[in-house]
Amino acid sequence: MQEKAILSVNGQEIELPIVQGTENEIAVDISKLRAQTGVVTIDRGYKNTGATFSGITFLDGEKGILRYRGYSIEDLTNKGDFLEVVYLLLFGELPNEEQYSKFFKDIKDQEIVHERLKKISDEFPSGAHPMGVLSSLVSALTAFHPNTLKPHASEEEAYLYMVKLIAKLPTIAAWTYRKHIGRPANYPCRSLDYTSNFLYMLNKMPNNEYTPNPIASKALNQLLILHADHEQNCSTSTVRMVGSSNASLYASISAGINALWGPLHGGANQAVIEMLESIKEDGGDVDKFIAKAKDKNDPFRLMGFGHRVYKNFDPRAKLIKQSADDVLSQLGIKDPVLDIAKKLEETALSDPYFIDRKLFPNVDFYSGIIYRALGIPTEMFTVMFAIGRLPGWIAQWKEMRETVEPIGRPRQIYTGEVARDFVEIKERDLVAQ
Ligand code: CMC
Repeated sequence: MQEKAILSVNGQEIELPIVQGTENEIAVDISKLRAQTGVVTIDRGYKNTGATFSGITFLDGEKGILRYRGYSIEDLTNKGDFLEVVYLLLFGELPNEEQYSKFFKDIKDQEIVHERLKKISDEFPSGAHPMGVLSSLVSALTAFHPNTLKPHASEEEAYLYMVKLIAKLPTIAAWTYRKHIGRPANYPCRSLDYTSNFLYMLNKMPNNEYTPNPIASKALNQLLILHADHEQNCSTSTVRMVGSSNASLYASISAGINALWGPLHGGANQAVIEMLESIKEDGGDVDKFIAKAKDKNDPFRLMGFGHRVYKNFDPRAKLIKQSADDVLSQLGIKDPVLDIAKKLEETALSDPYFIDRKLFPNVDFYSGIIYRALGIPTEMFTVMFAIGRLPGWIAQWKEMRETVEPIGRPRQIYTGEVARDFVEIKERDLVAQ
């Protein structure tokens, strides 16, 4: 491999180092460019910028590959359990039985959330969007665990803060859901595993026995694994950016939840179901909506389609589509929007607009159909994404702190007014004439 790139700028030729990753990805290191030449680079939306070095997730958008710590998502979803994947992301290796049992117990010990946090959650108006409530409550956790604000925690303290957050997020998320549907909150059930306990807290009604359906627990386990990390996406970059100022883990994760909420990112799962519902209500004319998505004068986009990095297929979407079929048939559910989604996909994939731009269904296209089959309301879909993405956010935050990443602070190219004199208010109209 060539070791240096040559750049000629303003008549000056400089050599820039080339760096290579373990999967042979190559980057030109421009970190000294400004010091050497006075010039910066510009790349809106970071479309071509590697913001960091990371050993957590590998993604090849051309080949449709996604691996956490070297393990393929296909293997992890087939053979693994969500908490194993959480452990893998956080600590770099799959746990042995003893490590798993300890980790599991540590999580179970921390599932209870302070009653006063519940009182705060009770004060939100009913109908409040669960993502806004979730990010507020995660931020509020810093008040109940003030030690987490210390920028330099010991390894044991850091472990406890991570475990607390992973354990408590489903409890808080279930409370936001129960509030949303006007039902009293449920408390965690110690005898249940992570996903079954979450379904229990969502669905248990007063004076009613509730046993989570193993089909639902399995489907949820798979969905959470598929969402667990996705390298430097918008919310993860937000978590790293906020954390780079030495802000606390919980403050950084709260910011990540807000970044995820947007419909171009994790909020797309809610937007997809709303889109499919509106196509159904409109009479099911898929071609009409494909035409709208292609029309540059129409702001409508095909939600759940397209991706910044996948240019062939999204491997998560492939697994989720299969799972949507399986889960619906196992649960004996017929959802008409699944047929609309399939028709929409088929039509788009044979249309030159989508082919030329390499637009394919992404992770959010079919996931909402599974959530619906599990009885989860549309406004909770992005919360489900957040629970899945939490270990990735934490692992990336932890990695950033361990490698002592500098504070995130991009440059810009200024396009505003050049220097001008201040004119006193009484003279301003005169000067303007
Ligand atoms: N429907 C119609 N046209 C689209 C779509 C779409 N969903 N996505 C991209 N395009 C067009 C876009 O108009 C542009 O066309 P042209 O070259 O003629 O101007 C071209 O494809 C490239 O799009 P872009 O917006 O420059 O691509 P991007 O990498 O900046 O955006 C995206 C990626 C995911 C934001 C975008 O594809 C999109 O808005 N998709 C719909 C929202 C969505 O499903 N988001 C979830 C992403 S997966 C979950 C996650 O990890 O966040």
